[in-house]
Amino acid sequence: MSSSPLQDKVAVVTGGSKGIGAATATALVNLGAKVVINYGRDSAAAEKLVKTLGTDKAYAVQADAGTLSGVEQLVKATVEKYGKIDILIPNAGILPMKDVESTSEADFDRTFALNVKGPYFLVQKALPHIPRGGSIILISTTQNFASTVSAPYTLYCATKGAIDQMVRVMSKDLQAKKGIRVNAVAPGPTGTELFFEGKSEQVLKMIASLNPNNRIGTPEEVADAIVFLAGDGAKWVSGQTIRVNGGQA
Ligand SMILES: NC(=O)c1ccc[n+]([C@@H]2O[C@H](COP(=O)([O-])OP(=O)(O)OC[C@H]3O[C@@H](n4cnc5c(N)ncnc54)[C@H](OP(=O)(O)O)[C@@H]3O)[C@@H](O)[C@H]2O)c1
Repeated sequence: MSSSPLQDKVAVVTGGSKGIGAATATALVNLGAKVVINYGRDSAAAEKLVKTLGTDKAYAVQADAGTLSGVEQLVKATVEKYGKIDILIPNAGILPMKDVESTSEADFDRTFALNVKGPYFLVQKALPHIPRGGSIILISTTQNFASTVSAPYTLYCATKGAIDQMVRVMSKDLQAKKGIRVNAVAPGPTGTELFFEGKSEQVLKMIASLNPNNRIGTPEEVADAIVFLAGDGAKWVSGQTIRVNGGQA
């Protein structure tokens, strides 16, 4: 097999400057793709990653991936730079720990904006630029498949439930009309800023103990599954949400 199976492919990763997004952008470049790394606020982190990956292979675009104008701007910048989008990864997301009683309208709107509205309209705006054989990979969560889940995941899981249904329905529509595959990965607890925020050592240990490997996953382990779905090795895989969690659920 070629060592650059994604040569000539163009990928867009929202929230591509950190965590799972950064590991995915890195893996895509290592397989030969050109990658647009979208980020929200921290331009230093995005520019540092672009420098590491090479300015001929990676390009940073600041845009709010939770707004219509932001996703339009991201698509426009990508098409101006590279002309098309073969691999679309709406990855940016937030995890406010909110049960139903403590959720404000602002929490609800902010979380649904980045986790659901952004991915939905990014797909819509990118579609005219995705050729046949293109691949869309959304990000769900293992929490949606766990037999028990704690109340503070209520708002987050509601948003990821919407992602699971987008995969189910859009995959059939876009395969039939445009030959584009739509899948998702559902990571388990993974060592990123989003995951570590606000958790004590004790809580981190307890979460690790729920996994049969007695540890949480790494962003690179999740990225490996995402790039599998991006490539031709997954050309007969569509409409699937793949759990990437070391066997936890
Ligand atoms: N980590 C886990 O345990 C886990 C488990 C299951 C699912 N997931 C999902 O995996 C995805 C990635 O999570 P992660 O843990 O890798 O997150 P992370 O490490 O916190 O990274 C977040 C990324 O999103 C960007 N971002 C934040 N707000 C943005 C906005 N409004 N517009 C554009 N970019 C924005 C950040 O850039 P700036 O810092 O510049 O704003 C950063 O690049 C999310 O959808 C999350 O729900 C994560």
